[in-house]
Amino acid sequence: MNVGIIGGGTMGSGIAQVAATSGCKVKLYDTNQTALDKAKASLEKILLRLIEKGRIDSEEKNRIQSNISYVDTLKDLSDSNLTIEAIIENLNIKKKVFSELESYVADDCIIASNTSSLSIASIAASLKNPKRCLGIHFFNPAPLMKLVEIIPAIQTSYETLEKAIDTISSWKKTVAVAKDTPGFIVNRVARPFYGEALRIYEEGIADFATIDHSLKSLGGFRMGPFELMDFIGNDVNYTVTETVFTAFYFDPRYKPSFTQKRFAEAGYLGRKSGIGYYEYDKDGKKVVGSDVIPNESAIQSDSEEFLKEQIFNRVLVMLINEAADALFLNIASAEDIDIAMTKGVNYPKGLLAWADEKSIDWCVLKLDELYSEYHEDRYRCSPLLRKMNRENKTFF
Ligand code: NAI
Repeated sequence: MNVGIIGGGTMGSGIAQVAATSGCKVKLYDTNQTALDKAKASLEKILLRLIEKGRIDSEEKNRIQSNISYVDTLKDLSDSNLTIEAIIENLNIKKKVFSELESYVADDCIIASNTSSLSIASIAASLKNPKRCLGIHFFNPAPLMKLVEIIPAIQTSYETLEKAIDTISSWKKTVAVAKDTPGFIVNRVARPFYGEALRIYEEGIADFATIDHSLKSLGGFRMGPFELMDFIGNDVNYTVTETVFTAFYFDPRYKPSFTQKRFAEAGYLGRKSGIGYYEYDKDGKKVVGSDVIPNESAIQSDSEEFLKEQIFNRVLVMLINEAADALFLNIASAEDIDIAMTKGVNYPKGLLAWADEKSIDWCVLKLDELYSEYHEDRYRCSPLLRKMNRENKTFF
């Protein structure tokens, strides 16, 4: 299969590696020669590391590298069976590239976008044949992250969707099919992990380290929300939140946080700037006991264990509510929602399976407690959870 990748940055170069490893002939196109040189050099480094670790041999390295050619005109992608675009996140630029690309490729070539936040319908509309267009959304780093969200637009044909699912599955990725709505599955369902943690901090309930510790020790999350925001970058994470919030017509459930905004504005971006919610050394390792703002006003009267449980329950139930509401609105199947969170962001359990484990009754009770405390729309319980509770149902 011939695969054309447009944009040789972080995502494009990773996707090229994935496709080439699976035996596809890949052409990686970028307008910027420096980006192509960087992509080539970074692949060399990655493959050498894989040899060192004994994961591949030098023959395999040569095979992967010989499957990728680096091209500097869009026309070079004319023999592609599938193209995946991973250029700058700008609708007008993407549309221009898509309509030019369509004039070069064969009628049955699938034209996909790796966009995180733009609507696939709007991108597909730039094509004469929008039926061949869909979203194929990888996670960073593409070679390591198992999950790929596939997003058919309202224009996408069933045949295009089936072919895309088959191809991406043959690249040893786990596919979750998502409706063309803001954040697809992962970037929507994961919002409360950050948002509720920030809110708990802002209310003075606990400091960053306590909140992180609660989620890790009681929930089994590999990183706490503040560690993860520092890892992703507060600038990047804030922008995703703001984009999702705007795209949902300012639904208060997705409201961004001033704390994170100020951290981003201050340049406290996290690991990459050496300081975020914690401090980091030259190698990007967290400096122990380095909470940037220990929360002096944290409630002292509750026992530590009780406080941690309250924090964990609150974040978890908000995540479950978001996952349940995504199912309620047919964003994806229950299986795909759970797979997306375990494979896309490494959650220890699927959120809907977690809801079953805690009991739907518990979820409704906790959400209603939050709602009656705050009277904010953000804490409204999903109608699906309420209905399931009435009917004594479980997700699985
Ligand atoms: P990047 O900035 O690392 O790379 C973009 C590349 O596209 C650059 O090398 C640039 O020279 C090239 N480019 C820009 N305009 C072009 C054009 N008209 N024709 C050809 N090449 C062009 O960006 P990144 O992070 O790889 O993101 C690319 C896309 O993937 C975006 O749509 C983004 O939303 C999406 N995405 C990003 C993720 C991430 O974690 N970085 C995760 C999942 C999706």
